[in-house]
Amino acid sequence: TPPILRRLSDLRALTTRWRRAGDTIGVVPTMGALHDGHLSLVSAAKADCDRVIVTIFVNPKQFNNPEDLAKYPRTEARDAEKLAPRQIDAIWCPDPDQMYPDGFTTNVSVSGLTNVLCGAHRPGHFDGVATVVAKLFLQTSADRAYFGEKDFQQLQVVRRMTADLNIPTEVIGCPTVRETDGLAMSSRNLRLDPQARVAASALNRAMGTLADGLAAGLAWDGLCETALHDLDKAGFEEVEYLDLRAIDDLSLLHSPDRDARLFAAAWIGGIRLIDNIPVAGQ
Ligand code: PAJ
Repeated sequence: TPPILRRLSDLRALTTRWRRAGDTIGVVPTMGALHDGHLSLVSAAKADCDRVIVTIFVNPKQFNNPEDLAKYPRTEARDAEKLAPRQIDAIWCPDPDQMYPDGFTTNVSVSGLTNVLCGAHRPGHFDGVATVVAKLFLQTSADRAYFGEKDFQQLQVVRRMTADLNIPTEVIGCPTVRETDGLAMSSRNLRLDPQARVAASALNRAMGTLADGLAAGLAWDGLCETALHDLDKAGFEEVEYLDLRAIDDLSLLHSPDRDARLFAAAWIGGIRLIDNIPVAGQ
């Protein structure tokens, strides 16, 4: 099983040795409760890099809702078991004081991209993400880092931050892994009760229908209305957003005349789910 490191000095001792040997380092940042979505990132990293570090840190700075932070699943022993057969080189589980020691006051804030979608509904969330990801890149001295398209806005924010700060880590996006009914895998799915779990697949279905309609040249307004109606019927309590946006700057679109994705966040059974899918151009 890979060593679990909790102190920065131990991590640096290892990465310094690897660097001297000329090994490339791939990093997969996570908050644990690992599922096949996370493991697909580990496979991508293993395929590209000599050394692979999986990081597990439930980052308090990116939770705008204290209850969400308290309820976030923590399953470190099971996570380590899931990683054991993957032949990774280390698990970085920093003690909280290693990440945010007393006196820590720096904030990494990416503007523009973070004003919309999840940024508009979760104040401070992407500052917390950008800050911890910058630290993880520098702590691990990653050559490459792997992120899921499941959190597409996060991926774009991390790309922007890394370019703007000249951090020499290449950011690599990987496709969303789904359950057989289409629901995007997420650690939060564990909190869905059985009825909500079944109904949750309506989100990806409604988005697929909407995307097909757009690709066929149908108008946004009617398609969107149908999707919202279908989600309501399936038992979704609230749709936070259902937007068509340009993939580069996340600006709002009404038809896929630029490279576009459909983005949604919606609540079911008291749980907030997000998803996004590409939309074929016309
Ligand atoms: P977490 O939600 O644990 O996700 C870790 C990584 O796994 C992210 O890059 C996320 O996009 C990816 N991922 C999650 N579900 C996926 C799926 N179904 N298919 C493919 N990839 C998936 O995202 C975070 O943690 C945190 O914000 C973090 C980047 C670690 C910073 O704290």
